[in-house]
Amino acid sequence: MKKVAVLLGSLRAHSFSRSLVHALGTIAPEPLSLEIVEIGDMPFYNPDLEGDEAPAAWKHFRGRILEADALLFVTPEYNRSVPAVLKNAIDVGSRPYGQSVWQGKPGAVISISPGRLGGFGANHHLRQSLMCLNVVTMATPEAYIADVASCIDEHGAFADAETQAFLLSYLQRFASWVQLNAGAAASSP
Ligand code: FNR
Repeated sequence: MKKVAVLLGSLRAHSFSRSLVHALGTIAPEPLSLEIVEIGDMPFYNPDLEGDEAPAAWKHFRGRILEADALLFVTPEYNRSVPAVLKNAIDVGSRPYGQSVWQGKPGAVISISPGRLGGFGANHHLRQSLMCLNVVTMATPEAYIADVASCIDEHGAFADAETQAFLLSYLQRFASWVQLNAGAAASSP
């Protein structure tokens, strides 16, 4: 079993991103096990708060990422970039300097949008941060889920066979990517 920490770029109760992750959970191939790591309760990153008294939510989050075998980011686009809540989680995980929890983890990015562009801007801004944090991010296949509202039905199941088939093949490739890079986190400097 490979534990995949799923990070969502949305706090909305009826988020399309969250619905999509639940649908992905129903088709995820072995050995992937998707687990959403909640990020909404973390204070904004502030180096002044580091140390023994660092916010409990930061410590908990860092622990969850450290124990994960891989990372899956599922995010909408906010103003052509990464939603602040997700960027905050990335920043919290990256510090204190030299103790980043992201180091060497295999990862993948899925962006979503009710619009036509599929969150391209968020997807690539996110990849930029993951690059400098040495998250071993799968380059292809890329996943830009446009018109997301038509992909999921009112019960949270896939409403569109083509998107479901694409995302199944995406997760199969990700499973191979995770296996291929399994030792990367442990052996990273
Ligand atoms: C958006 N939305 C949006 N959509 C998009 O395709 N490109 C964008 O740049 C933006 N910008 C943006 C900014 C802000 C502040 C909000 C609140 C929304 C729309 C967004 O994609 C839509 O609300 C999604 O449904 C959000 O994802 P969840 O919450 O459904 O997962």
